[in-house]
Amino acid sequence: MMKKFLVLPGDGIGREVCEAALPVLDLLNLPIQCEFGEIGWDFWCQEGNAIPAATWHQIDMADAVLLGAISSKGKQAAEAELVPTLQGRGLRYTSPVLQLRQRLELFANVRPVWRLAGQGMPFRCAIIRENTEGLYAGFDRQGVPESLSDWLTHPNLARSGLDQAAISVRLQTRFGLERLFRYAFDYAGANGYSRVTLADKPNVLRESGQFATDIFLGIAAHYAGIEAEICNVDAVALDLVRQPQRFGVIVAENLLGDILSDLAAGVMGGLGLAPSANIGHGRAYFEPVHGSAPDIAGSGRANPAAMFLTIGMALRHMGFAAAADRIDGAVLQVVRQGRCLTPDLGGASTTQDMASAILQAVTRPRHALRASIV
Ligand code: NAD
Ligand code: IPM
Ligand code: MN
Repeated sequence: MMKKFLVLPGDGIGREVCEAALPVLDLLNLPIQCEFGEIGWDFWCQEGNAIPAATWHQIDMADAVLLGAISSKGKQAAEAELVPTLQGRGLRYTSPVLQLRQRLELFANVRPVWRLAGQGMPFRCAIIRENTEGLYAGFDRQGVPESLSDWLTHPNLARSGLDQAAISVRLQTRFGLERLFRYAFDYAGANGYSRVTLADKPNVLRESGQFATDIFLGIAAHYAGIEAEICNVDAVALDLVRQPQRFGVIVAENLLGDILSDLAAGVMGGLGLAPSANIGHGRAYFEPVHGSAPDIAGSGRANPAAMFLTIGMALRHMGFAAAADRIDGAVLQVVRQGRCLTPDLGGASTTQDMASAILQAVTRPRHALRASIV
């Protein structure tokens, strides 16, 4: 049956890597109907909404959504860049990325980490980041409410005054954690990983850490063949650099997973190699881990590999695993050959040149590579 694939190129290099990588769909000749939609900073500035209503409608009709990247700016810049007729109306900017994750309840953010080429021992593992709550739950404000002052007894609060303080709450719920951990163990089982590591900070965040730990172990008890490990997140960061091959699936709270996944991208060779999937029950959207990279946008330097791999993840999700393997294999082949690489990987090629090399490798694989990154 024909699948509907909605592409939202977004801002900056998001548009460039979409344009460079999407021709792979024509090459693979799959029953997929591609449609484009509008999203991003310009729509916020012009309409006070970075995701227009028509785009939400397209999202609701799609089997899978592909996002390039979005630019998000701080509170002051967001308000200043609105067209004058919208300024002063108290519009609040929320990153479209966060809107998608929250509204579609895409609770698991899957970020494969791999080194199949280059220096160092080959490995693959996956970070599964909680995607709807934690420190991203939305309780983030300047000024501490009077009602919390009995509970927040830190001496600096008295020194500064409640209005000269800011507070962000890390929300973790049994509902949110159970579905996340279940997904992490299922993912491990389905992808041949024998260990799931919870990366948290239970030695300091004793209450929320213990809460998460208990739920983690409760879910783990249903997965006899998979080892459940609890580690301090700082130690996980160290091991991701020193011995990443020891990990299978790493599961973490929203902000901790955000930080770990950029670190892991660094271990792989850069954000230009890191794909991701945002998964809920029956809904999903896919995006490279990187952002709109304003420092290189428009210069032809963006590495398109993360976008190719992200398209692969979307295809796998829609049931086209063989096509996804071909994309993974082609990216690996080009990265291994070390020719036609963009500057972030030490080459001098443009986005288009590297994309052409990957497209060529999809059509004519040099050897049968089992190169699945998941
Ligand atoms: P970024 O990922 O855009 O860039 C970080 C660094 O990595 C930059 O030096 C950039 O040049 C480099 N880089 C990123 N992708 C690359 C690629 N494909 N090839 C080569 N180099 C690459 O992160 P940032 O600078 O923190 O954020 C820039 C903007 O993107 C911000 O507005 C931020 O909010 C947004 N952002 C969006 C997403 C998303 O849409 N999913 C993710 C992260 C950041
Ligand atoms: C990511 C990004 C987003 C996040 C931003 C753009 C809101 O950094 O997808 O990793 O913090 O989750
Ligand atoms: Mn991030």
